[in-house]
Amino acid sequence: MHASDSATTAGASLVPDSRAAYQQGRLQGKTSVLVINGPNLNMLGKRDTAIYGDTTLASLEQTCIETASSLGLSVGCLQSNSESALIDALHYAEHNALGGVVLNAGAFSHTSHAIADAIEIVTGLVIEVHLSNIHARETFRHHSVLSRVANGVIVGVGAQGYVLALQYLATQLRPTLPE
Ligand code: DQA
Repeated sequence: MHASDSATTAGASLVPDSRAAYQQGRLQGKTSVLVINGPNLNMLGKRDTAIYGDTTLASLEQTCIETASSLGLSVGCLQSNSESALIDALHYAEHNALGGVVLNAGAFSHTSHAIADAIEIVTGLVIEVHLSNIHARETFRHHSVLSRVANGVIVGVGAQGYVLALQYLATQLRPTLPE
C-alpha cells in the first residue's frame, strides 16, 4: 500500500473498503452516497498546500466515511483523473438509485459540459464541493459549469465542505434521524 493510502486518523483505515464498495457495485439505494473526487485531488497533501492544506485524499475520505457512518449513510469513495470515470460514477449513482453524490470535479468543474450533462441525469442530490474559494482565485476558476445543475454548492471551507455536504444529504435522505 502506498503511504498516502493509509489514513492519518487513529482508527483503522476504512478507505479501501469504501473504494471497493463502489468498484464492486455494492453501493445501492437512497441512504447511500458517493464521494467523487476529480483530477489532481489524489495529490492533496503535496499539491499547493498553501491553497489546499496538508490533508491527504485518504484522510479526507476517512473523514467522509466516519461522518457518513455517524449519520446513518453508507458511503463509497472514488477519485479519478479521467473525465469519463467521473461520468461513469455519476451514471452509477443513477443506476443504483443512490440518494446523493458529493462531487469535487477539480478543474473539470470549469469546463466539462459532459459532466454537467451527467449530473442532470442523476435523480439523487448532487452537491458540488470545492476545497478552495474558487471565486477568490484566478478568473478561469470563478465559473463552474456544474453549479447550474448541482443541487447545492459549497466552496472555500476546505475538507469541512465535504462534511457539511454529507450532513445536508443526511437531513434530506434520513429525515427521521435525530439532529
Ligand atoms: C478545486 C478548485 C479547482 O479550480 C481546481 O482545479 C481543483 C480543486 C477545489 O477543490 O478547490 O482541482 O476543485
